[in-house]
Amino acid sequence: VLTDVFAYLRCPACGGDVHPAAGTLRCAQGHSYDIARQGYVNLLGGGAGAGTADTAPMVAARGVFLAAGYFAPVLDALARAVEAALREDVPGCVVEVGAGTGYYLAGVLDRLGERTGVALDLSKYAARRAARAHARIGAVVADTWSGMPLRSGVAAVVLDVFAPRNAAEFSRVLAPAGSLVVVTPTARHLQELVDVLGLLSVDPAKESRTAESLSGAFDPVGAEIVEQEMSLSQAEVTELVSMGPSSRHLSAGDLAARVADLPEPVHVTLSVTVATYRPKDAGRATGCRPGAAS
Ligand SMILES: C[S@@+](CC[C@H](N)C(=O)[O-])C[C@H]1O[C@@H](n2cnc3c(N)ncnc32)[C@H](O)[C@@H]1O
Ligand SMILES: [Zn+2]
Repeated sequence: VLTDVFAYLRCPACGGDVHPAAGTLRCAQGHSYDIARQGYVNLLGGGAGAGTADTAPMVAARGVFLAAGYFAPVLDALARAVEAALREDVPGCVVEVGAGTGYYLAGVLDRLGERTGVALDLSKYAARRAARAHARIGAVVADTWSGMPLRSGVAAVVLDVFAPRNAAEFSRVLAPAGSLVVVTPTARHLQELVDVLGLLSVDPAKESRTAESLSGAFDPVGAEIVEQEMSLSQAEVTELVSMGPSSRHLSAGDLAARVADLPEPVHVTLSVTVATYRPKDAGRATGCRPGAAS
């Protein structure tokens, strides 16, 4: 529920605490943000555009495709990684950035008992869905790049599944003994569709770039590759393409024409890396403070 996450949030304009007041969240400086009737709060700063936000049809397609269960092995691996990384004694919420429909965050919360989840996404259509995905999720419209509207150190876990990564902000919002779990496509992900449908392909250097972009603030502690073949109908291929970035470059008509030529079932490779990271100064924060020893 949204009210459960207010204590984790902060004003994106001034960084101050926020409090509910007459259908808005407000800080002491008077910055005010609307709480939508659909159960999410919009904490976008004024200047932010919807640029890379998923559109309503993309979010709808994602909801349909994920419900079919083909990505359940990704959720399983993600949940296992979180269970392995999350220490009971580390307080705080589970944050998913670029949470989309909330499929992964809801699945992880199901396996964690009492933790509260914060779903952040630039798309209000995504936030609307994520708000309904689980009783313990509060959904927030926010931009990962312009500073996350979360207080420092409040997250026990940050999840990032196919979404933009801001290493500096991830480490700021994480508790010192918290963990970051990142899911990225490998170069083989959806390879068959890249070839026949002209989808955007995954840069083969993506994995090393991901590790590199995080390496200033995080240490890798483990990774698992999830890979399997999916046998999809033409309709499922259409949903899968429509939920992703290629849908921005391919008209619905072109997509329909190309999908109609594919013999069913369409064999498509699912291939992702689920990687766990810890903030670099975790050791320092749990002991070894200069001057602490006598
Ligand atoms: C590929 S989708 C992944 C959604 C979800 N994690 C999943 O795997 O089902 C990427 C998501 O990131 C969101 N997004 C894009 N740019 C963003 C930004 N700057 N800040 C926050 N979210 C962003 C999109 O709206 C979209 O929901
Ligand atoms: Zn403020």
